[in-house]
Amino acid sequence: MSQHAFPRNFKTNYLKASHGKGIYIFDADGKKYIDGCSGALISNIGHAVPEVAEAVAAQFGKLEFAHPSRWQCDIVEEAAALVAGLAPEGLDNVWFVSGGSEAVESAIKLARQYFYERDGGATSKYVTIGRWNSYHGSTIGTMAVAGSMARRSVFSPIFAESPKIAATYCYRCPFGLEHPSCGLRCGHQLESEIRRIGAQYVTSFIAEPIVGSTVGALTAPDGYWPLVREICDKYDVLLIADEVMTGCGRTGRNFAVDHWNVVPDIIATAKGLAAGYVPTGAIIAKDALLEPIRNGSGAFMHGHTYNGNPISAAAVIAVMKYMKEHKVIENVRGVEHIFAEGLRKIESENPIVGETRGKGFMWGVELVRDKRTKAPFEKKSGAANVATRECIDQGLIIYPGNGMVDGVEGDNFLIAPPLVTTEVQAREIVEKLSAGLASAAKKLL
Ligand SMILES: Cc1ncc(COP(=O)(O)O)c(C=O)c1O
Repeated sequence: MSQHAFPRNFKTNYLKASHGKGIYIFDADGKKYIDGCSGALISNIGHAVPEVAEAVAAQFGKLEFAHPSRWQCDIVEEAAALVAGLAPEGLDNVWFVSGGSEAVESAIKLARQYFYERDGGATSKYVTIGRWNSYHGSTIGTMAVAGSMARRSVFSPIFAESPKIAATYCYRCPFGLEHPSCGLRCGHQLESEIRRIGAQYVTSFIAEPIVGSTVGALTAPDGYWPLVREICDKYDVLLIADEVMTGCGRTGRNFAVDHWNVVPDIIATAKGLAAGYVPTGAIIAKDALLEPIRNGSGAFMHGHTYNGNPISAAAVIAVMKYMKEHKVIENVRGVEHIFAEGLRKIESENPIVGETRGKGFMWGVELVRDKRTKAPFEKKSGAANVATRECIDQGLIIYPGNGMVDGVEGDNFLIAPPLVTTEVQAREIVEKLSAGLASAAKKLL
C-alpha cells in the first residue's frame, strides 16, 4: 500500500497500533505492549476508557462546534471551573487551546499583552527568558524560548533567539558545583540574566518544573522554585510554569509546582488534561493579569479556531471525573515508591545507567558509557534508541531523548506509565526495564 501520511522519521520501522486497553497497546498481530511512557506522558488514565468515549460521543450528538468569536458554551465553562480548581489558589482564569505548543505561545503572548495594557501601551517589556535543555513545543515561538539544540538547530536561523539560563542539571552541573553547597547558583543566574538584559525589557521567565523530554525528568532541587518566584517578584517579571508534561497528576500532585508550594503567574498545560482523547491544552492565569485587559482593550489578542471547543471540554470533564472517582493521583502517590526503588536498584547494577531521577510517575534514566567519568555514548551509537528497541522486545514502550550533554551527545529516556498503573503492573514494568537495559548494556559496551 502506498503511504500518503508521511512518518515522523522515514528511517524508523514503526509498530502498527491496532487497539488499546488500560495501560496496554496491541499491535496489528495482537502482541501486547505496556505503554510505559503514556505515549509522551499523555494517556494518563490509560487507553479506551468507555466513560470518556461516551461523554465525548454525547457531546458530538449535541453540538460539535460553535465559534468562540460568537458563542459561549456552558460545557466549556464547566471544564474551565474544574481546571481552575486543580490549579494553585489564585489561578482562576482558563484559556483552552488545542495542545502544549499553543498553550506556551498563549502564555508568552498573555505576558506581553498584560504589560502592554497595564502600562498603557508604553511598555518596553517583551523578552521571555528560558532555560537551556528545555522543550516548550514545535512552533517557531516556542522553539525560540526553548533550549534543546538537538531539536532546534535546523530551524534556529528563522526565529529570534530568547535569552537562556542553565537548567537544574545537577548530575552535570554547568558550574562544576554540588547541591546543596552550590547555594542554587543556577537559580541565582536568573537574577543576573534579568539584570544583564534590564528588567524593563523582561516580561517573563518560563521553565518546566520537572524537565521532560530533553533531559529525562530533571527534578529541581528543593529551594529552586521558591527562589525563582522570589526573583521574578523582585523584578516585576511573570513566572510561567510549563506543566504540559508534569500537570494533571503526573508527578503525584495536581501540578508539579505544588511540590514546592509555588504559585506561578501562568501555568501552561496540555497532554494529561484530556489524556489523549482529543487534542487539548490550556493556560491558567492569575486574575491580576486579565484585569488590565478587561479594563483596557477588552480582548486577548490571540485566538485559534478551536479555542474552547465543546468536544475538548467534554473530554476534559470526563477525564477529571474519572481521575477523581478512581483516586488516580492517590494511586500515583501509593505506587511511585516501586519506581523509585526499582530504578535505584537498576542504577546500582547496570553499567550504562548513570543516573535515575524523577517524581510520581515521571522518571528519567540517563545512559552513560562510563559511570565513573559520566562520559556519554558517542552520538553514532544511538544508545537511547538501542535501549528503546531492547525494551520494546520485552514488550515495554519507553520515550527516548538525546543531545542533552552538549547539544549533540547524551542519551536518556523517560519511563512514565499511565497514572492508573497498579502495584503489580509497576513491578512488571521495572522487571521488563531491567531486562531491556541489561541487553542494551551488552550491545553497547
Ligand atoms: C514541556 C512541554 N511543553 C510543550 C510541549 C508541546 O506540546 P504539544 O506537542 O502538544 O504541542 C511539550 C511536548 O512534548 C512539552 O513536553
